Amino acid sequence: MPNPNPIGIFDSGVGGISVFKEIRLLMPGENILYYADSAHCPYGTQPPESIRRRTIKITKFLINAGAKIIVAACNTASIAGLDYLRQEFQIPIVGMEPAIKPAAQITSNGKVGVLATGVTINGDRFNSLLTRFACDIEVINVPCAGLVEQVEMGLLDTPETAALLRKYLSPLIKCGVDTVVLGCTHYPFLRPLVESIMGPGVKVIDTGCAVAKRVHQVLQEEDLLANRAPEYATENFYTSGSASYVRQVIKNLWDQPNITVEYIEL
Ligand code: DGL
Repeated sequence: MPNPNPIGIFDSGVGGISVFKEIRLLMPGENILYYADSAHCPYGTQPPESIRRRTIKITKFLINAGAKIIVAACNTASIAGLDYLRQEFQIPIVGMEPAIKPAAQITSNGKVGVLATGVTINGDRFNSLLTRFACDIEVINVPCAGLVEQVEMGLLDTPETAALLRKYLSPLIKCGVDTVVLGCTHYPFLRPLVESIMGPGVKVIDTGCAVAKRVHQVLQEEDLLANRAPEYATENFYTSGSASYVRQVIKNLWDQPNITVEYIEL
């Protein structure tokens, strides 16, 4: 039987919109709730314990609003707290992790660069990925302080954003990586800039599409798909920050004129 309840997605801010877009593309008939924790963004410089507390509050809110599945559209929150969320809540929870395994499979020269937050790069889950999938390749991890803030301000193609990226990409260029992993959901919005700095021979990958496929698979297996005509599907956006500001940024990132964002402090 179809399940009409929404998919609940959250991120520290608007970065998870890169995952939201893939989910919307793959499942046009699903209702979606999206929570941007903009007042507490960035997560990537906070102690994992504070990130866990926020993700538990947000997950409770999304479940109370009817979510049938939770998508932690944030690598940092997933690395810091996915196990805790799964212990705490009974509904399916899908998280994110940097695309180390796919990168190890597609690199030709065995040199891969990872752009992510400091919390992600220092997390046990991330190190376990490296041990399991990347022990015979060279991986250069770059914590990219400041990039999330640029995306939060909608500054995707400014001289300041380009200068920051050039700084973070320069060790990868020096080392000659042929694959760059975008290990934070904000960074796919900077992909054109990353690609232009790295040049045409370098592959740039992220996991948004894979996560959308995983969400679809879980909903199918658990018999939770909505089976609704796309024209009746809805999106509701919430934020702990300024609703009008977040609305403007999401509108540009998603390229949809008519969205509403509600302020909800948790
Ligand atoms: N989008 C989050 C991620 O994927 C950004 C983390 C942050 O807020 O620093 O890691």
